[in-house]
This record gives sequence, structure tokens and C-alpha cells, in this order.
Amino acid sequence: MPVLSQRANAIQPSPTLALDSEAKAMKAQGLDVVNLSIGEPDFLTPAHIGEAARKAIEEGFTRYTATEGILPLREAISQKFRRDNNLNYPPENIVVSTGGKHALYNAFQCLCQEGDEVIIPTPYWVTYPAQAILAGARPVSAPMDPERLILTPESLKKALSPRSKVLVINSPSNPTGGLYSAEDLEKLAPIIKKADLWVISDDIYECLVYEDRPFVNLSMVAPELNDQVVITHGVSKSYSMTGWRIGYLAGPSPVAQAAAKIQSQMTSNATSVAQKAALAALTGPQERVAEMRASFAQRRQRILELMAQIPDWTYPNPLGAFYVFPKVSSVFGEKIGGEVIRHADDLARVLLRNALVATAPGTAFGSPEHIRLSYAASLADLEKGLGRIHDFLAGKPLSFGG
Ligand SMILES: Cc1ncc(COP(=O)(O)O)c(C=O)c1O
Repeated sequence: MPVLSQRANAIQPSPTLALDSEAKAMKAQGLDVVNLSIGEPDFLTPAHIGEAARKAIEEGFTRYTATEGILPLREAISQKFRRDNNLNYPPENIVVSTGGKHALYNAFQCLCQEGDEVIIPTPYWVTYPAQAILAGARPVSAPMDPERLILTPESLKKALSPRSKVLVINSPSNPTGGLYSAEDLEKLAPIIKKADLWVISDDIYECLVYEDRPFVNLSMVAPELNDQVVITHGVSKSYSMTGWRIGYLAGPSPVAQAAAKIQSQMTSNATSVAQKAALAALTGPQERVAEMRASFAQRRQRILELMAQIPDWTYPNPLGAFYVFPKVSSVFGEKIGGEVIRHADDLARVLLRNALVATAPGTAFGSPEHIRLSYAASLADLEKGLGRIHDFLAGKPLSFGG
């Protein structure tokens, strides 16, 4: 057989999706698995959004649309930026894609190429390095401050080289829950300006911020950088619409035009009916968003209380998204569940096989001393999952099925 491309061989399948599949397969075998591995809200998509999609089908809105997305949706996104962020992105600077992941893919393809370096604050969401590689670039890790869970000016400066082209900022962050303040971003701005970097600002968790902290992105605090910042976003997390696959990019005109051009040769438009659903999400009642956020806030509170009972797990306060990222390395070298635990992958595997709790090992996020737990799960599942982890690590017998 002829060989596959280097590009295809250079990346791994998404490990979080792989773990989710393993947990789902175990569940399908009748095992009472608690799945805390995946970042997916467990709420139904609000009814009026589904209704808009149904109406679109009935009206025959099932043909190709403009590659960059229907104008009313791009207008609604433009309004969202004005209303929520005081940012001016006219519809022609916006491209609607098949999920936030696709918007990010377009951004990487537009901004970097062979020989470029992409600076990725670490721990990072697994997809950033893979997408940088797919664009021919080299991912360069810049360690975050482990307490504040943000990239510091010092760390950014250390990561810079003459080849640096793009910096990724994800706030609130997957996997840490870290959140940048305006001051944090203001400190990075002059370095970014001087190094002439593009910034991909992945704002997908914008609406999931707790403890009354404000959400801010780089464009909001440093308008002088607007022609260097590309925002990627989407409806997946805010509106519980993960399966609908609608995301978007907003940026300077040349970037939006290039993204539309690339997308026109790759996927064409995002699903027509899902675009109508996203339009209803952005322009319709927003009460469910606030209710879902309140629910996540409650779950966050509870998971922090439950984690506090697990000896030796340490974690800074996560201020956003729906993840906690405890440091678990205190158990490395110990024999647990019949296995010597060497790193987070071992611990996650042992927890899944013995305690029937699926977590995501930090290795995939560039941090093998941590595991990620998602609290986008019911309170009952959080109680059960954390209770089992606690008892298992304490050497207590577990009972399943309840
Ligand atoms: C940090 C981050 N960015 C982007 C995405 C992509 O979201 P979507 O489901 O819209 O592709 C995710 C999804 O998990 C994410 O965690």
C-alpha cells in the first residue's frame, strides 16, 4: 500500500473523544460508568432553538447557503459582539463554520505555515497543537502560572523566537478553568505588539464565568491590537448545542476573507438548518443561558467541596468553563488497583477500570501531573463519581449499580 501523508501521521486522534468513546462503550455493556471526561453540557438544547430548526426544515431551508454563513446569523453575531463585548465586527468580518473547532482550524490555516511557531500556553486544550501541526507550524509550549492559571509576560517572553507567529489565548480555559483579568491581558499586550504576533482568542467559554468576575478578551482591553486578533467562538457550550456544530470566527477583513476562501474549498457552508437554530439561539430569549450558568455554578461549588475531601489533590480556584484540573502526582509511585501509578494516564485508566469513573488525563493537555474532571455532569453524577474516587484512593471497597 502507498504511504499516508506525514501530516496524517503527525497528529493523534483527539484523546478526550477517545476516552469518552471508551466510557460510552463500557456503559453500553451495562456498567455503571460515571463519565466526567467530556466537556459537554448535559442540558437539552432550549426548545425554541429546536423549533427554529424544525421550521427551517418545513420551509425547505435545506440548500447550500453562502459559504460564510447566512447574513442574519452574521448580523446577530455582530450584534452579540457589540452588546456583550463592545467590539465592532461587521458581518463581513465574520465567518460561520461547523463548530468552534472548525473556526479554529480556519484560523490556523489562514495565519500560519511551515517554519512558523505557535505559542500555546500550557496546560492547553488538546486541539491547539494538533491544528498548528496540520497548518505546518510548530507548537511551542509556554507554561502558565500554576496558581493564577494564566500566561505571564515572563513566560510569553521566554517562548518567543524570530519564528513566533501566533499566540493562542483561551479564557476561560479548558482544561484549567483559568480566567484572564483585564490587567493580565494588558500586561501581555505590549509584548504581543512588539513581536508582531497574531493572537487567536478562543472565547468559546465566554458565558461560563463565576464569582462575579467579568469576561474580557484581548480586543476589549487592547484595541490597538484589533488588527492582530482573531476571535473564535460558537454556540456549543453557551446554548447546549454541541451536536449542532455551529461556531464562528471574527477578525480583520483579510483574515475573514481568507477563512471564507479556505472554507469554500473544504466544507462550504455550515449546515443550513443549524444556522437557523444558532440564529434563534443568539436572538431569542436568553433566560436558559443564565439558568444553565447558575446550574454550572452550583455544580462547581459542589465538585470543589467534594475534591477538598480527597487528600493530596491540589488545585487553584477555577473561575470559568466547567473543568477542574487537580494535581494528582502525589500518588505517583504508589500501587493502586494492582498497578503502580507512574503518571496521569495510569491513574485515569485505573479509575475507569476499577472505580468506573471516566476522567481525562492531563498528559493530553501537556500536563502529565494532572487529571481533568468535567462538571458538565449532573449533581448526582458528581456525588457518585467523586465519592467513588475518594473511596477507591482510600482503599475502601466500592459497590456499583446504584
Ligand atoms: C477550548 C475549546 N475551544 C473550542 C472548542 C470547540 O467547540 P465546538 O464543539 O464548537 O467545536 C472546545 C470544545 O470542547 C473547547 O474546549
